[in-house]
Amino acid sequence: MRIVLLGAPGSGKGTQAQKLIEKYHVPQISTGDLLRAAVASGSDLGKKAKKFMDEGQLVTDELVLGMIEERLAQEDTKNGYILDGFPRNIPQAEALDKLLSKLQKPLDGAILIDVDFDILLKRITGRRTCDSCGQVYNIYSSPPSKEGACDKCDGTLQHRSDDNEQTISSRLKVYEEQTCPLIDYYSEQSILRKIKGTGDIEDIFKRVCSAIDLLNK
Ligand code: AP5
Repeated sequence: MRIVLLGAPGSGKGTQAQKLIEKYHVPQISTGDLLRAAVASGSDLGKKAKKFMDEGQLVTDELVLGMIEERLAQEDTKNGYILDGFPRNIPQAEALDKLLSKLQKPLDGAILIDVDFDILLKRITGRRTCDSCGQVYNIYSSPPSKEGACDKCDGTLQHRSDDNEQTISSRLKVYEEQTCPLIDYYSEQSILRKIKGTGDIEDIFKRVCSAIDLLNK
């Protein structure tokens, strides 16, 4: 299974990807998570990426494509993967298609998690992420049992530095201008499935799984 999760910041890509890993036993590849790990490690890549991320802009294609090519070459991707937050613009999607066609392993599909913009702000400002296992919470809609601590591993919950109102508005603008054209890009390849991304997380998960099952038929 090789799929792309498409959707605006805060639409629930990461939340759904974590559930898909358990069901389909393939890894989630989140370019956002890979970039945040690079920033935290202080690597050259991380230093270059930080400025763009703090401003809510896309990191350059060159950096992201190098990183993704390396990740897709790893052994755990051989039975498939869930791409979360990649591709983010047409050049990245074209580069991905080229790479996968060389490997003769094209994408099965792209799933768009559709959420109205007015809901996204509350989701993003309320997000808290475990710094140890990556589990995602929301202080409004899915809080942890103990404030500030992860239910799964007791790790500390963090508020992402780019989850502030100013950066969020540029992230949403970048999504509209650069990522939305991917909806047509994958529609034209007849591999796009759009699902409603509001309501209960479990109900959305059922919709995502039905879309995947249809793609795999
Ligand atoms: P990235 O980390 O990819 O962030 P994003 O796309 O902005 O997406 P988010 O992680 O904010 O949202 P999500 O859809 O995963 O939502 P989540 O499930 O957490 O990118 C960050 C930055 O890195 C970019 O700005 C860019 O600079 C750079 N970058 C990354 N990839 C790049 C690329 N390919 N090229 C260039 N630059 C790149 O959910 C959000 C919240 O909502 C959570 O609190 C969750 O609990 C809650 N929630 C989820 N579902 C529901 C529901 N149904 N009801 C209520 N609450 C819900």
